[in-house]
Amino acid sequence: MRAWSERVRQDGARIAFVPTMGYFHEGHLALMRKAKELADKLVVSIFVNPIQFGPQEDFAAYPRDLNRDARLAEEIGVDVLFVPEAQKMYPSGFQTYVEVSELSKPLCGARRPGHFRGVATVCLKLFNIVKPHLAVFGLKDYQQFLVIRRLVEDLNLGIEIVGHPIVREEDGLAMSSRNTYLSPEERKSATCLYKALCLAQEKVKEGAREAPPLKKEIEAFILSYPYTRIDYVEFCHPETLEPVKEISSPTLLALAVFVGRARLIDNALIKPL
Ligand code: PAF
Repeated sequence: MRAWSERVRQDGARIAFVPTMGYFHEGHLALMRKAKELADKLVVSIFVNPIQFGPQEDFAAYPRDLNRDARLAEEIGVDVLFVPEAQKMYPSGFQTYVEVSELSKPLCGARRPGHFRGVATVCLKLFNIVKPHLAVFGLKDYQQFLVIRRLVEDLNLGIEIVGHPIVREEDGLAMSSRNTYLSPEERKSATCLYKALCLAQEKVKEGAREAPPLKKEIEAFILSYPYTRIDYVEFCHPETLEPVKEISSPTLLALAVFVGRARLIDNALIKPL
């Protein structure tokens, strides 16, 4: 991988990179198409990164289908599909981690201790191996996008980080490999995340400004759908992720909701018009 990247760089070509955990859906493919537009060569990685999963989380169950992914990557015109082995990424003796301290604390960071340390560490390793000029990340994982952008800035990696808008199913459900965990009944309930984001935008458009009562209303709305359990509903500053009480400027509404055993996340920038 490194030899290929060095050769391509020496030829003066620009490398775009899309890191993934595989089991491609239309959301991944959109990132790849965007990345292809922005550079001469495209590298996509597939690595289900063990160090970003907690002990009770779905590392073992995470869906995998390398043959299908390879076929889809080829159709898109990916130049290199990089699929490292866990043993190569984390050989025995591995002990160096990187942490983006503040941005990793709230939201998913508070519910999934060590998650963003694992994400930041693997992304730094992948960046060092792939040596891209730019990398494209989906904005469904909004906090991850901020963490990686900060990492790149703080450690002077000189990689452009591009955020890609959330890609949704026709009924609004954000695309995610974890949607495959949903039973048909749960799948119907899962539309409540997107509907909750729309409801919040509607309420704010009508004049609601106080975040705490709106948060309660959104929570009650989500819980009115069967199989749902709220992990968090938070209004926060879109750059710092600090909690927001008064919605007086564009505010991020971030959701994490269990629908059955699937933990789904979604978000939107809520604008007081
Ligand atoms: O978003 C993901 O799929 C993963 O968190 C990433 C960025 C590939 C790191 O493992």
